[in-house]
Amino acid sequence: MPDRTANVPRGMRRQLFACKSIDRLIADSEHPRQRLAKSLGPWSLTALGIGAIIGSGIFVLTGTAAAGEHFEAPSLLHAQVMDLVLNFIQHGNLSGALLHGRPAAGPAIAVSFILVAVACSFAGLCYAELASMIPIAGSAYTYSYATLGEFFAWVIGWDLILEYAVGNVAVAVGFAGYFKAQLSSFGVNLSDRWSTPVWSEGHLTGAWFNMPAFLVIFLLTLLLLRGVRESAGANNVMVALKIAAILIFLVVGGMLVHPVNWHPFAPSGFRGIVTGGAIVFFTYIGFDVVSTAAEESIRPQRDMPVGIIASLIVCALLYVGVALVLLGMMPYATFASGPAADAPVAFALKALGVHPAFLAIIVIGAMTGMVSCLLVFQYGQVRIWFAMSRDRLLPALFSALHPRFQTPHWSTWIACAAVGVPAGLFDIGDAADLTNIGTLFAFVLVSIGVIVLRRSDPGRPRGFRVPFVPVFPLISVVLCLGLMSGLLLITWIRFVVWLGIGLAIYFGYSRHRSEFAAK
Ligand code: ALA
Repeated sequence: MPDRTANVPRGMRRQLFACKSIDRLIADSEHPRQRLAKSLGPWSLTALGIGAIIGSGIFVLTGTAAAGEHFEAPSLLHAQVMDLVLNFIQHGNLSGALLHGRPAAGPAIAVSFILVAVACSFAGLCYAELASMIPIAGSAYTYSYATLGEFFAWVIGWDLILEYAVGNVAVAVGFAGYFKAQLSSFGVNLSDRWSTPVWSEGHLTGAWFNMPAFLVIFLLTLLLLRGVRESAGANNVMVALKIAAILIFLVVGGMLVHPVNWHPFAPSGFRGIVTGGAIVFFTYIGFDVVSTAAEESIRPQRDMPVGIIASLIVCALLYVGVALVLLGMMPYATFASGPAADAPVAFALKALGVHPAFLAIIVIGAMTGMVSCLLVFQYGQVRIWFAMSRDRLLPALFSALHPRFQTPHWSTWIACAAVGVPAGLFDIGDAADLTNIGTLFAFVLVSIGVIVLRRSDPGRPRGFRVPFVPVFPLISVVLCLGLMSGLLLITWIRFVVWLGIGLAIYFGYSRHRSEFAAK
């Protein structure tokens, strides 16, 4: 047994950049009291990926991204960062920047879906390499600890809360909206007080709590506490249902397409396509969740890359299909606001007189998709906290296992409260944008991590190797930064504030508990 304290660096500066050795990470994960059961094969992993990827995004954001976004009052906060930077470079000031929101992508949002899939593929390859060589719970957080050091590991672990927990707040609220609408089409009307957000667009709405949004998280928590094998089984069924729902939509909606609606195809040109991409990036978030299950996969070296890339390809094909059909059914401008913006798929089917049975099948399938997405993200969030706690950056409670089910039960309950309560209070609002920027930032760090690790640990076996390193990881970095620049200034400010809170916790608490803390 090697002396584990021999290499502990002294002094804060060295602590910030102290990397955990990969052997050490694997050894820690084998500790009997903290070992997760290995039960997932390639099909379950791919289903896990699709379960996380297809959520509310495709059913909610496709319409608004195609229609664009217009704020009445001009404000720097509503300008895209890319637009501000370009204006500053070209004119030396910001006067030419668009301060009213985003230009419309139009039907060319289908092209945005393809471009974002390409960008995600580069990041996905990087995830696949790291996941196949570091098969440990914790995803990008763990990879950063092995490559970039403790400080970056903390930053990314904190950042991933945006992807998992904040992303799930958005999906849960989206689910509640569809749930309420579907019940009402069955003649059951939920009271607005108990089924709508308490806080929306900057003011109190008069509602008390969004119960469906909270309850869906609560019920999934009970499922997750039972263990990953049962959860993966339930996930496979839900994934099959949502893919079926999308295919039915493609057939039923496809018969209602009027090609005239595809003109103009790209009303705002390439700018619209890029800004649309920055929004619909949300719809692809989730393929990286596969990597959080590396520790529970049976053959991570082979199954990790298969799970990540296969789930990305399947979703890209489905998304392009949904985008072309939806925007062929009605003019893109229809989806700018109101019910058409909240639930574009249901709206278009209803408006064009589709039989209520088809509508119900598709909407219930969409809701199933959201549930499986919620399930996987709750699962992923808990696994990341589990890993951070095992590294002593979070309290020990986060990695305590249930004596019978061997699941991290305290973390699972904490994730239930951290997602369920805000989902009961807030609107989808800007949650999706905040999720996007946090996730893209994580992708950037993971891509850099691949390059660093190829240099610092070239001999370690890699079940999957990214081709053309460092070119491919660098392409991933550039594409992710490009998408980040398509987001609004207000989103960047919120992101920086979130990171600031994380830094305060790290320097005030975690740094002192870490095993690398100067003694
Ligand atoms: N990709 C997930 C969704 O679209 C987060 O809901």
